[in-house]
This record gives sequence, C-alpha cells and structure tokens, in this order.
Amino acid sequence: MATTTTTTSTAFVTAATGYYESLEELVLDFLEERDIAPRTAAIASGIVLWCLFWWFLLFRARWTGYFTGGPPVVCWSPRFPIPIIGVLIEFFYSPHQMIRRCYDDYGPVFTIPVFFKRLTYLVGPEAQELFFRANDDLLSQNEVYDFMKPVFGPGVVYDCPKKNRQVQFQTMANGLRANRLKVYIPKIEQETRRYLQQELGDAGEVDLLHTLSELTILTASRCLHGDDVREHLFKEVCELYHDLDKGLVPYTPFWPTAPTTAHKKRDAARLQMVELFGDVIQQRRENPSRSDGTDILQLFMGIKYKDGTPITTEEITGLLIALLFAGQHTSCITSTWTTHLITHHQNVFDKVMAEQEAVLGNQPADYVLQYEDVQKMEMLHNSMREALRMCPTFIMVMRRAERPAPLTVNKKGSATEDRPTKTYVIPKGDFVAVSPTVSMRLDTTFKNAETYDPERFSSPREEHKTPYAYLGFGGGLHSCMGQNFAFVQVKTILSILFREYEMERVSPDLPNPGYEDMVVGPVGNCRMRYKKRQRTGAVN
Ligand code: HEM
Repeated sequence: MATTTTTTSTAFVTAATGYYESLEELVLDFLEERDIAPRTAAIASGIVLWCLFWWFLLFRARWTGYFTGGPPVVCWSPRFPIPIIGVLIEFFYSPHQMIRRCYDDYGPVFTIPVFFKRLTYLVGPEAQELFFRANDDLLSQNEVYDFMKPVFGPGVVYDCPKKNRQVQFQTMANGLRANRLKVYIPKIEQETRRYLQQELGDAGEVDLLHTLSELTILTASRCLHGDDVREHLFKEVCELYHDLDKGLVPYTPFWPTAPTTAHKKRDAARLQMVELFGDVIQQRRENPSRSDGTDILQLFMGIKYKDGTPITTEEITGLLIALLFAGQHTSCITSTWTTHLITHHQNVFDKVMAEQEAVLGNQPADYVLQYEDVQKMEMLHNSMREALRMCPTFIMVMRRAERPAPLTVNKKGSATEDRPTKTYVIPKGDFVAVSPTVSMRLDTTFKNAETYDPERFSSPREEHKTPYAYLGFGGGLHSCMGQNFAFVQVKTILSILFREYEMERVSPDLPNPGYEDMVVGPVGNCRMRYKKRQRTGAVN
C-alpha cells in the first residue's frame, strides 16, 4: 500500500513539474534556492499547521452561518470573561445555566460553539416547533445517538437501515399499547408488594431513589423480559445492566470506543447479555410454555424484516437493552421526584389520597389494581406530569441539521413578540437542541413555572396543551414510545406505596436537580421515614 502511494506521488510530481523525480527532491531544491534550513522550515510549517488547527477548531464554528442568516453565536461569557475559552468553561460548568442565560441575552434561538461543533438551541414553544415537526431528513437522530451503538450492539435502532428500524420501533410500540398495559398492571402490583414485604417491612427509613430504582427494574423486567427471566436470571441481568450503564461516562459521546476499563466492561457485558438472552430464546423456542406470551421479548422474537429476514439474537438483545436504557433512570427519577414533591406539598398529598379513596375506597384489602382504576387517578397523573415538568430527566435532546433549516421567531402572538421578528437559517451540520430543563421553567410558557402545581394540567387550564410546550417525553415524530408504560408503572407503584405507608421526608429541604449529570436526577437527601398503615380495605 505504502509503495503504491509513493509511486503515485512520484509520478504526480514528475508529471506536474516535468523535472523532479520525487516530492522530497522538489522541497529540498526549493529550500536550498532560498537558503532556508530544513529545520527552520519544519518549525515554520508546524506553527502554520498549529494555527490552522486552532482556526479550524475555534473560529470555523463561530463564522459558519454568519453570511447566510445563521442564529447569533455566543462568543463571550460574562461569567468566565476569558476570550474564546470562557464560553467553553461556562458551557461545561453548567450547560443548563448557560442555556438559560443565553435565552435571556439572545432570545429563543442562539448557537453555542463547542470546540469545532455548533450547538444551536431552540428555546420556548415557538422555536421548538421546528424541532418537533421536522422529519429525519431535515433533523436527524443518527449521528447524535452514535455513541449508543456499542451499548445496543450492531443492527439495532440507530445502526440499521431505515426500513428495519421502522419494524423494530413498530414492534416496540405494539408491546407498549393499552391492551398490553392492562396485563402489566397486575404484574407490577405483584412485584411491588413482594418487594415492599421483603425489603421494607412495617417501619423504617429508606433512600427513596434507591428503593424506587430497584422497584423500577424489577417491574420492568417482569413486564418486558417475562416471568422466566425475572424468576431465574434477574440477578445476572441486573449485574450486566449495571456494567452497561457504568460504561456510559462523560467522555463516551465524544469517544465511544476509547479503550478504557469502563468501555471494556461495557463491551463484555453486552456480549454476555447476548449469550444470556440467546439461551432464554432457545429454551422458549423449544418449550413455548415458558412465556405467557405477554412480554416484549416474546414480541421481539417474532420480528421479521420487510425482506423476510428474521431478527437475530444479538438484535433482540440490543432492543431489550435499548428499552431498559430508555426507561430505567427516567422512570425511577420521575417516581422519586413525584413522591418527594407530593409529600412536600400537603394540599397535593391530601388530594392524591382523597382520589385513592374515591377510586378504591369500596374495594377489599386484597384488591388488585386494574387498568381502569389507574386511568381514573387524574390527580396522581398530573402530580407525576408536573414533577416531570419541573424536574425533567434531560438537559437537552438533540438532532443534526441535514440541510439548512429556516426558522422565524418572535412573531405576533408569541411569548417573545416584544423582540423584533427574526428569520434565521440554521446551517447544515449544526447540532440542534431543545432543553426540557430550561424551557419548561419559563414563566412565559407555564404560569408561575417555579411552583409545583399539578392542577395546571386539569381542565380548564390544561397548560400542557399549548403546542410544543410540554417536553417531559419529548415530542413529535420521536416522542417517547414508553410514556404510557411509564405512567402506568409509576402510578401503580406510588398508589400502592401511598396506600400502604405513612411517609415523611427525613430532610425538610427538597433535593436539587443534578444538572451536571447526563440524566438529571435528585441530588441531596432523598431519605424517607415510613410506617405501615393499619387498613381494612384497599385504602383505609
Ligand atoms: C418517566 C419516564 C420516561 C421519560 C421521562 C422519557 C423521556 C423520553 C424522551 C424525552 C424521549 C425523546 C428523546 C428524543 O427526542 O431524542 C424518549 C424517547 C423514547 N423513549 Fe422514553 N421516557 C421515559 C420512559 C420510557 C420507557 C419506560 C420506555 C420503554 C419501556 C421508553 C422508551 C422510549 C423510546 C423507545 C424512545 C425513542 C422514540 C423514538 O426515537 O422514536 N421511555 N423518552
């Protein structure tokens, strides 16, 4: 290969100059004629290359779009007033605070240059409309979630042809439909009661985030993986999931294959997961009665792509991993916030309990929750939705612009109409992001946005119905596929928890959102004291 390249360049130099036989000869002759020492020339070229590298790295991102109507670029940080790197420090110190600051300074559309990448933020419902209405050909997910490929494995969601991905997503959607959720609720109840009996007992103190994390994975495994996996392989699945999860570190999005211990453990865990589910699948094929047919694993096993090719074991495992990643942290964090916020607001707590009484008050103590009961728990539903509004799990959700994307903001009737109407063209190649943590705390979108007020979602206020305002589960084409499952899972667990125990927060202060983490969770004291209620019926 090297010989071929040298021969080609020699031939090129000879053809171009008609005289020199090699590139070295040409360069040496040039230096000799001008009396430049090769060492000086090497240093000078090094400096030029170094400058070009930095120009490319830092300035390209700042100038792109300047002459084509691109959004304003954030080039200065009042918080860290150091040329060029101040913006980077501010961004990495707290992206959430920086996005909020830039919204105040620049309005709903602005670009933050991060090294040679450009992150263009759309804040507020008017700007967010573009993000959620665009199809994959305009704003694509693929490059953004590239770093998840080593976790999910080959041929899964972002690493497969569009037509295969459609089949995979369609099957996921089928597995999370209402008729499935009806079957899942008794399973979630069974799992929750077993856990509470074994782990909590009659009274004590727990770290709620830890307890709800365990309950989330237990209930998800029962519904998604099936009884055979939950009963016999749960410990192994949990350990492997843990290694996969720990393999997602802050540098992973920038270098997903970096040869670090965390990544090596992640890769090994994925292969072991494939082996484990490979055995389960084989046993189920030999003996179909091992599954009651309601779990998502069984659905995935039946996938055939449009060209008739059956799905592989590795792909089935990848899809199961993808669902665990999508639902585990998000649901456990949301249930933790919901419990803390409800117990912190006595008026909300009283209404949640009154609703439990109204829905289940006539039922006996051993009553098993039904789908219809959970649907009737509107106050609990809105309490969860409001917890997710105030404490969403993502600082940002991203796409990449595949072609220039025009966008007009501050139009008449919008929340920012006091600023001049502007049309921007987001340049091709920009990473485009919306920020649930910032945008759902804007007073211009949600009244008294800093107040926990679940009834903002009840009729007639229904603030979540403002188009593109509520981002707890994303929106548009790629809105969360598991949101109904998440509501059912969290509401079932919390309904049981509130009916079974009197709960009191150990610290009077609420935890704070940990905006530094990849998935934003509560930071601070999450401990709860609990005492079993004496009941004769389902509620009292
Ligand atoms: C409270 C819990 C949850 C929250 C806050 C949440 C949030 C989100 C958000 C914000 C997105 C959009 C991501 C984007 O636009 O790039 C999303 C997508 C998704 N979620 Fe969830 N999620 C939750 C639970 C679940 C559960 C339990 C599952 C499955 C069992 C699930 C499956 C998915 C899937 C498959 C997608 C990708 C949809 C697509 O790209 O078309 N989620 N979720």
